[in-house]
Amino acid sequence: MLVTTFPFDFNFDERLPFAATLPSGLYTDPRFLELEKERVFSRTWQLVGREEQVREPGQFFTAVVADEPVLVVRGQDETLRALSNVCRHRAGPVASGSGACKALRCGYHGWSYGLDGRLTNAPEFDGVKDFEKEKIRLPSFGVETWLGLVFVNLAAGAPALSESLGDLQEQLSRRGVFDMRLTLRKDWDVACNWKVYVDNYLEGYHIPIVHPGLMKEIDYARYRTQTRALWSEQHAPIKAEGGGRLRKERPEDEARFFWIYPNLMLNVYPDNFSTNLILPLSHDRTLTVFEWYFRDPQSEETQHKLAQTVAFSDEIQLEDIGICEAVQRGLRSRTYDRGRYSVARENGVHQFHGLLARSLRVQSA
Ligand code: FES
Repeated sequence: MLVTTFPFDFNFDERLPFAATLPSGLYTDPRFLELEKERVFSRTWQLVGREEQVREPGQFFTAVVADEPVLVVRGQDETLRALSNVCRHRAGPVASGSGACKALRCGYHGWSYGLDGRLTNAPEFDGVKDFEKEKIRLPSFGVETWLGLVFVNLAAGAPALSESLGDLQEQLSRRGVFDMRLTLRKDWDVACNWKVYVDNYLEGYHIPIVHPGLMKEIDYARYRTQTRALWSEQHAPIKAEGGGRLRKERPEDEARFFWIYPNLMLNVYPDNFSTNLILPLSHDRTLTVFEWYFRDPQSEETQHKLAQTVAFSDEIQLEDIGICEAVQRGLRSRTYDRGRYSVARENGVHQFHGLLARSLRVQSA
């Protein structure tokens, strides 16, 4: 398919054996990130928080999606809403941080809004003509919850999140993730384009070279990736004779690495799962937010498992950061533009690049 974008036009072959990877300029040119914000991040379901933050009427939290300030709030009618966090007066912030309130009050001149976004009070505004307070409200966005997580989609009429996820919910339910609770969050700032980090996540091809510790724990020969419409799943069987750093509860246990287009990962292990949210800070800097969920988070046993899990995750993350930052430098080379995919090992990366190409092409048609 020909993908026509400014400043890059490129061909992308949907047939894996024939395809070339994305042109390097897509990773190194700041103009391309602006395009991705419009055509990818503002048109897909983005993880913004947890349902437990907005369980009660009046509870809220703020977020930013593709540079758009958003406020997620539970109304008095129990409805969860995602509203613009931009005051209709002079664009001040309607809310900041998180908390609970009976009404929303702008932090600039004090206009007040109901929890449903309707303007209820505009102080000292008498005498303003053609101003109908009753008609003013904060615009709203799509909001859905899944797995105890809250997602927002800025695009009006976007397909439901459940449509993107297919039978993923059922798969995770079988692995018992729904009774796990947030136990720890860790942020990492990585000096690479967000797609370099996602590409790296989507293949196990680099494990033998980059992750010697992980290689000892998994059965690499049986490692495989399955792609679905908008997500993929990597199966990493855990070796019986491994070093025990990936705990098994049953002999057939595997680590499963799920990815949801474009920037969310779910790592599911026998006794915990974690989310990795990949957020572009600039064209060559990326924030990766890791959150771990366990059953019974306060117990001594869980705390012990958590420490062990995080230590192993840190080791792998530092190895990934090292290679991703080196790849970002390589992508800036005058001599490199595009590479090829391993048919056996890089079908997940090819899927990601195809989805990205389609997002860009469809919007530009
Ligand atoms: Fe919100 Fe003025 S900007 S009250």
